[in-house]
Amino acid sequence: IPVQPFDLIIFGGTGDLARRKILPALFRRYCAGQMEGEARVIGAARAEMSDAEYRSFAREAITEFGAYAACDAEHLDAFLTLLSYITLDARGDAGWATLAAALEGSARIRAFYFSVGPGLFGDLAARIEAHGLAAPGTRVVVEKPFGRDLASARSLNAALARHFDETQIYRIDHYLGKETVQNLMAIRFGNTLFEPLWNSQYVDHIQITVAEAGGVGSRGEYYDKSGAMRDMMQNHLMQLLCLTAMEPPAKYDPDAVRDEKLKVIRALDPGQPGDIVRGQYEAAGKGAGSQPGYLEEVGNPESTTESFVALKARIGNWRWAGTPFYLRTGKRLRARASEIAIVFKDAPHSIFGADAGQHRNILTIRLQPNEGIELGVTIKEPGPGGMRLVDVPLDMTFSEALGPEAEDVPDAYERLIMDVIRGDQTLFMRGDEVEAAWEWTDPIIEAWESAGTAPCAYATGSSGPDDALALIHRDGRRWREIRT
Ligand code: BG6
Repeated sequence: IPVQPFDLIIFGGTGDLARRKILPALFRRYCAGQMEGEARVIGAARAEMSDAEYRSFAREAITEFGAYAACDAEHLDAFLTLLSYITLDARGDAGWATLAAALEGSARIRAFYFSVGPGLFGDLAARIEAHGLAAPGTRVVVEKPFGRDLASARSLNAALARHFDETQIYRIDHYLGKETVQNLMAIRFGNTLFEPLWNSQYVDHIQITVAEAGGVGSRGEYYDKSGAMRDMMQNHLMQLLCLTAMEPPAKYDPDAVRDEKLKVIRALDPGQPGDIVRGQYEAAGKGAGSQPGYLEEVGNPESTTESFVALKARIGNWRWAGTPFYLRTGKRLRARASEIAIVFKDAPHSIFGADAGQHRNILTIRLQPNEGIELGVTIKEPGPGGMRLVDVPLDMTFSEALGPEAEDVPDAYERLIMDVIRGDQTLFMRGDEVEAAWEWTDPIIEAWESAGTAPCAYATGSSGPDDALALIHRDGRRWREIRT
């Protein structure tokens, strides 16, 4: 369904996110016919650039990152005519009058995308207001990291709240835009099958894994000041935990969903030091084909920042008391593979005797790659050899089940940007939610900092440090294999 005509102003329009994600996502939506109305995309940044130069910047970005089967050169030429560029200073006056003139009299939906560091959020918000560029329906989109602790997140929220109300603020966590993450809600609340079992009476434990094969790459400077806890756990994994654990909202509506997520974060027990393991990857191989270790990659031999974190979280409420959630995320692991696994309890009594073996149902939601769901069920081993049981997967890979359309999975940013234009905040984080997540994360990070201990080393291409294996083994459980 086409969205209404809009003006999207991208602050940081020449930055990495605009290049890799925002411009390609817009182009793909354009090709899908969703931007039929008159849309305008205005890149704004400090660099001097003409409209023509910005268009060729966008052409290169889209060619590199925006491949889409349904698009051709003509589409790209037409899309680029929607783009223009304004040289603008977030902390000064330069460019604001030009931007105001460009927007003057426009009745389109207006959205400002803050694709810049959080240090500029307040400046941009203040100048948008000072130049009279915001109306009640104007939206602002802000990127993560939304602060680096509770205090900084609070001051960012306060800086935005001085100029915009909560219904205008779209805080991105791109994991919420992933198709399979939304599917988690569809699976839970669109079927009668799972929800009655979705509690500590039937679920032994839950594992959430977001494993990456890549290292920190060119983002070393940012990453070394953050680490896996701030970069991934506080936001992406926390969101996955919330969607997995929350109560059914009464309806699929922004506040109904976000209220339920918030309750989960607030019900989290404080993290115990013994329940959390940090890791840092080591270099691998020698000569050609070798891979640098974390310290080398970030260029800081003294760094104690973690590139891996595994933890056991407990939710103190009726639904989940006694069912631990094991979460882990890290870079340079065995494979890029993310999943949520619901491990059900053993059948209460085996009528087949000890020889038949003990089996468990596991529901796995594969987030990426190879998106789909798999349900491990126990059946009889074929053959006349008596009643022996065996586990088989009921496997539904979305692209196989839903046909070719499901193969070209839209990028999270496509969905999220269109939701901004539609005015749907369901998949964006509310201010109190972000603060609550920091409130839980802060004491964990503070404890590490005051202990001053280094993270455990782990081999590139492994499943993380041995201590992370021990974290779950000591409860008589084991991590699922990280594989694609
Ligand atoms: C980002 C993190 O938010 O998410 C990165 O800053 C991480 O460090 C990335 O690599 C992972 O996203 P995806 O979509 O590739 O799983």
